[in-house]
Amino acid sequence: MNEGELFFHPQNILPSQRAEQKNQRSCVLWFTGLSGAGKSTVANALEQRLFAQGYHSYLLDGDCIRQGLNKDLGFAEADRTENIRRVGEMARLMTEAGLIVLSAFISPFTQDRQLVRDLFAAGDFVEIFMSTALSVCEQRDPKGLYKKARAGVISQFTGIDSPYEPPKNPELMLDMAEQSVEMAVDRVWAYLVKAQIVR
Ligand code: ADX
Repeated sequence: MNEGELFFHPQNILPSQRAEQKNQRSCVLWFTGLSGAGKSTVANALEQRLFAQGYHSYLLDGDCIRQGLNKDLGFAEADRTENIRRVGEMARLMTEAGLIVLSAFISPFTQDRQLVRDLFAAGDFVEIFMSTALSVCEQRDPKGLYKKARAGVISQFTGIDSPYEPPKNPELMLDMAEQSVEMAVDRVWAYLVKAQIVR
C-alpha cells in the first residue's frame, strides 16, 4: 500500500472546538536535554500545577513510552529518530484532542526535534531546553546509568558515547544546577502566561 491509497476523512468536530470545550488553548511543551537534566521532574511538577488550575493535560515520558508503545526501539540513532517521530505524531493527536501535552524525551537530534516542531502551528510547539551540564547530571546520576555507561555496562549512552545536539533557539532554557524545581516551574508558567497559553 502506498500513501496514494489512503484517504483523509475530515472530522465534523474541529481541534479548536475540542480545546474550546476545555476552555484552554492546546499546545505541546517539549522538554529536551540529557538524562538526569530534570525533564521529567519539571514536567511533572508543571503538570501538577496545570491540573490544580483546571487545565486538561497529559505527560508523555521516555521511560514510560519505551515500556509500551515504543518497546520495540533501542538507543541506536535510527531508533531514537523513530521514537521521536512517533512521540511527535502522538503529541499532535493529543493536541488535536484539545490537550496541553508535556513531553519529556532526551530527543538528542536537532533534525528530529525540527520535524516535530513542523507538525504544529507557530507558537503551539514550545521547546524547553534543560541545559543542566553533563557534569551535574553525571554527578547526580539518579538512575545510576552514567556509572553503568562509564563502566561500559551500557553503550550508546547520551553524553557519554552517543551525541546530544543542544537546541539553538529554544523558547526556554532551564539549568537545574542554578534553580529549584519550583523556580523552574515558575519560569515556564510565566512564559505560558505571556504566550497566552494559560491565564
Ligand atoms: S531518546 O534519545 O530516544 O529521546 P528517551 O528520552 O526516549 O531517549 O529515553 C531515555 C531514557 O532511557 C533515559 O532517561 C534513561 O532512563 C533510559 N536509557 C537507557 N539506556 C539509555 C541510553 N543508552 N541512552 C540514553 N538513555 C537511556
